[in-house]
Amino acid sequence: MAVKNGGMELKGTFLGGGGDHHSYMGVDEATADMVYDVLKEFWTTRETQSDEETRQIVKNYRKSSFHDSMEPVRKKLSALYSDRDPDQPFSMVDFGGASGSPLYFLASVFPIETLRYVLVEGYLPFVEDFRENFPRQLAIHAGAEAFPGLPDADFGETPLDVFFSSHVLYLIKPAVVRAILERASRLTDTILLADNIKNLHGEMDRENPVVFDYLPENGQIYFSHYFEGYFDDIGFEIVDEFPTQPRAAEMKLGFGVVHARRRD
Ligand SMILES: C[S@@+](CC[C@H](N)C(=O)[O-])C[C@H]1O[C@@H](n2cnc3c(N)ncnc32)[C@H](O)[C@@H]1O
Repeated sequence: MAVKNGGMELKGTFLGGGGDHHSYMGVDEATADMVYDVLKEFWTTRETQSDEETRQIVKNYRKSSFHDSMEPVRKKLSALYSDRDPDQPFSMVDFGGASGSPLYFLASVFPIETLRYVLVEGYLPFVEDFRENFPRQLAIHAGAEAFPGLPDADFGETPLDVFFSSHVLYLIKPAVVRAILERASRLTDTILLADNIKNLHGEMDRENPVVFDYLPENGQIYFSHYFEGYFDDIGFEIVDEFPTQPRAAEMKLGFGVVHARRRD
């Protein structure tokens, strides 16, 4: 099958799904690179955006953890907070955390002195906004390619309780996601993801990158990852998984929460 991605036509093997959007397709590495280049260009430059739009986006992302569809994520984060060593703050790294919305949520239910949150984000206006609002917390301005090479010292005290990433990894090609999770496995024993879960156990394909057409007319072709296989390679296993509600009609279908831990 073939789908149009902006000006490009992408070819691959149809794997499932369908309707106007959300067809899943197995592609080769060169096609995955093309899809990723379009996504990366959008998220790292946001060139067509006015300053006012940027301000609004940054502000809106402060609240994204409070959306109804994020209720199971809030519950999971709260449960992980309760599991921590009570003599220590709850520590988490949020990869692609935008303006840091999980911290806005956690600080609304737990004392801020018991929270150590490390934002990792590639888009500078998000990082600047977070630093202004939480000057005592840590923010690292780094994109997906830089994250695997960051030294432990950048994260403050390690290990951390949780590596968290919500609605980010489906924007990144498999080889880079594997490197991100491998780095995460040297920072923590617990990984919590909110992401597309249609290929979680390799239901679609275990060998080739899998993409799906979310809104191809906008260049929004996304990845569906075989997370179970990636976890296996870093000595982690899935201990919990569940689907989340779409954010609105046609938005974020096939998404869910995945909780993985280092295998005993
Ligand atoms: C859909 S937003 C999700 C933001 C936040 N985690 C949430 O759940 O509200 C995607 C986030 O991933 C970041 N992102 C996208 N592509 C990235 C890349 N290649 N490297 C690093 N961050 C990326 C964006 O800057 C943005 O903050």
